[in-house]
Amino acid sequence: MQRSNPTKIAVLSMFLDQRNKLVSSALLRTKAGVTRQAIWKAIESLREEGFVILSSPQKGYTLKETSFPDLAPSWIDFLLKDCPWGHPVLWWDRLESTQEVLKQMARNNAPAGVICLAEEQTLGRGRRGRRWVSPQKGGIYLSILSRPRLVPSKIQLLNLAAGLAVSDALWNLFDLPCQLKWPNDILWQEKKLCGILSEAASEADRVHYAVTGIGLNANTPLDSLPPELQGEASSLFAILGHSVNRGNVVAAIVRAIEERLAALEKPGGDTLLVKEYSRRCHTLTREVRVTTGEQCHEGRAVELSPEGALRIESAGGLLTFTAADVVHLRPRH
Ligand code: BTN
Repeated sequence: MQRSNPTKIAVLSMFLDQRNKLVSSALLRTKAGVTRQAIWKAIESLREEGFVILSSPQKGYTLKETSFPDLAPSWIDFLLKDCPWGHPVLWWDRLESTQEVLKQMARNNAPAGVICLAEEQTLGRGRRGRRWVSPQKGGIYLSILSRPRLVPSKIQLLNLAAGLAVSDALWNLFDLPCQLKWPNDILWQEKKLCGILSEAASEADRVHYAVTGIGLNANTPLDSLPPELQGEASSLFAILGHSVNRGNVVAAIVRAIEERLAALEKPGGDTLLVKEYSRRCHTLTREVRVTTGEQCHEGRAVELSPEGALRIESAGGLLTFTAADVVHLRPRH
């Protein structure tokens, strides 16, 4: 596990200002306000995160931008330096599930805004107990801890807020108009680009914590996914035709979620959120099949309840679902 620290961020920030140029040891010491040894330790630690930093004896150091570690915790910490969330960034090369780590930390009183990332998950979890295939091939596996001031009956709104946030981030970074599929998928041309899983611990009248997990196919080559998923999945790489800096994507998502949650917690924020999600949701107005456990219903998705539940008009009348699997039955015109 890697955690970043202020000296590392200060040193990295100076390197990023002077990309591929020599930065003198004296400048690093003066600007970071620490000893030579602290600078050396920070540089060693940045190297461990994958940054290539060359030393020129008696002169200083140069950060080489070849093979930039785009998910390195210090990079993300640096990108989020003016954001209240994203500190610390916990990062693993390989991990069972980022959800489990963060839930454990939440139980040990970790503050809202801590995030956890992995290059690969060996037991990635999806909704309804399913597996989330998480190969070490450029995906984003991110969990974010929040302590939302929401009544437990409105916790589903967190999922909707996260969906809007991911969609905002992809629009702001890449001009990508993605589609939101209730309750928590982000699609591109009807194929799944991102899945979201929020897990919360509550008592009768308050939510203790929530951990929102985001699995986004970023630089994932589609052929690294199991054959049965290849036809129904998309990735940023497949859409844009080039790889993206995943740190930029993670930072944009974390910022957007922090902003969306702050807005949700304001008086009337829940109504506004449901209104905006409904406006952008691709499931509404469509013919859908909704599955909950053994039960399966078909009908027309008509609206969301104030709690974010889906209402469908079926042959048997109006049905409301708080959690379910949804299939869009016909393409949208
Ligand atoms: C879904 O079923 O669509 C939700 C998928 C959520 C996957 C993410 S990846 C990061 C976090 N860690 C996990 O084990 N799951 C979530």
